[in-house]
Order: sequence, then C-alpha cells, then structure tokens
Amino acid sequence: MNAQLKGKVAIVTGGASGIGRATALLFAEEGARVVVADVDGPGAERTAARINDARPGAAVAVRADVSDPGDCRRVVDTATGTFGGLHVLFNNAGIIRRTTALDLDVEEWDRVMAVNVRSVFLMCKYAVPAMTEGGSIVNTGSGWGLKGGGNALSYCASKAAVVNMTRALAIDHARAGIRVNSVNPGDTDTPMLRDEARQLGEDWTAFATDAADRPMGRAGTPEEIARAVLFLAGDASSYVTGSALVVDGGGLA
Ligand code: NAI
Repeated sequence: MNAQLKGKVAIVTGGASGIGRATALLFAEEGARVVVADVDGPGAERTAARINDARPGAAVAVRADVSDPGDCRRVVDTATGTFGGLHVLFNNAGIIRRTTALDLDVEEWDRVMAVNVRSVFLMCKYAVPAMTEGGSIVNTGSGWGLKGGGNALSYCASKAAVVNMTRALAIDHARAGIRVNSVNPGDTDTPMLRDEARQLGEDWTAFATDAADRPMGRAGTPEEIARAVLFLAGDASSYVTGSALVVDGGGLA
C-alpha cells in the first residue's frame, strides 16, 4: 500500500461505477478509509467489498440519492460515526441527458440539476462542518462545463455550475483549511459514456477514437481520472484551491 491518504477518511459519491469506483479503489490503496455512496446500493456494496477484501474494515457502502438532503446527511454521519472523522469528499455522482432544449422535459432539466448541482451544495453543507481538521473537496465537472457541447443543454449548464460553485466554496472555506477543486474529465470509458454511444447509435470503437474530440486518439480511463482526483485530494496539492483541473487528453485544445 502507498500512503498518500494514510489516516484519512473519504466519501466518494457515485462510487458504484466508472470514475467513482476507480477513485474509491485508489483512495483505499493509498490508505484512506472510504464511504462508498451511490443510489445503486448493490453496486456500492460491490465496490466496498472489493476494498474490504484487501483491507478488512476499510470501506462501508451507503445507498444514497445525492439529490436528497436526508440521504446526504446520512452519508456524512456514516463517515464520522463509522470512521471517526472526515477529510476528503469526492462529489462525483452525475447523470446526463442527451437532448437540446427542444426535446428536454422540465422534469428532466430539474432532475439533472438536482443530481449534478444540488448534490454538491447538499454534500458540502453537511461535510464541511464535519471536516474539523481541515480537508479537501473534489467536485466532478466536465470539459463540457468549460467549453459547452452539443445536444446536452442541461448537462452543460449543470457542469458549468459545478465549476463555479467550486470557486465559491473554495473562497468561503479556505480559512477553515478546506480546499475545493474540480476535476474536469473529457470523454472517459465508463458505463455512462458507452451508454451515450449506444444511444447515439455509434459503434464504440469508432466513437472512442474519434479524432475531432480526442487528439490522443482514445478516450480516457477511469483510473487516469482517479489519479488526478488523488492529487487534488491529498497533500501534494496543498496550495491548490478553487482550480478546475482538466483531464481530457487535449480535447479542450
Ligand atoms: P457512471 O454512470 O459510470 O457512474 C455514475 C455513478 O453515479 C453511477 O454509479 C450511478 O448509480 C451514480 N448516481 C447517479 N445518480 C445518482 C444519485 N442521484 N445519487 C447517487 N448516485 C447516483 O458515470 P461516470 O462516467 O463514472 O461519471 C462520473 C462523473 O463524471 C459524473 O459526474 C459525470 O458527469 C462525470 N463525467 C464523465 C465523463 C465521461 O466521459 N464518462 C466526462 C466528464 C464528466
């Protein structure tokens, strides 16, 4: 085991799948004890079980909808109750709807905003007071939160909000020793992206290597995003706060 997060307690939302799962596993490898939160309860249990196989007692799973205030409070209470504190929060759970304004229902707009944006507010509302020794919060934005993108209006709006909320949170809580940054992935090979390719009727290999969006000729891996999150979560980034770290293989260039 390496030790970048030795002695730290971390929460990972959306920890059942993709980027969240890879990050929860990496955090645990680096010595953290991890609360794996996801609306997919069995998926969260699977991630926690994988961690506990290697380090018994290092992870606990919570079924939680991050748009719900009571669930968010319960996730934080699980961290402090089970592991005695909280140092790292990775606000990563998210959803996408691939539609323009014309085809988007009002309910779908509200749902994307609730899961992608309200969740960050709620989790921070409960987590910040629990970070009594200071801490690090990482929010998952997106390249599309910075540059926009086609056919995903609510998603682009929600991720732009996450990027700017990150700066607001960083300013508000800096004196409490809490750093807040966003990680902004480009297309990353996760169930979310494969599902998008399917919905667009595109062959995965062609989609993943599409030269226009991907100068490196491939999508990122969840592990590549997780390593950037680890940097922001740990003391290696001790003077970095309010930043938007882009991890997209040059896609914004
Ligand atoms: P994923 O679909 O593999 O994982 C997302 C996880 O969030 C799932 O386990 C899902 O059950 C959970 N989740 C969804 N709604 C939830 C809710 N209300 N409460 C709690 N958990 C909930 O997707 P992926 O790709 O790992 O996405 C993770 C984050 O990265 C998201 O915020 C996404 O928008 C962002 N992102 C992904 C990119 C990609 O290309 N895959 C690119 C840029 C950003």
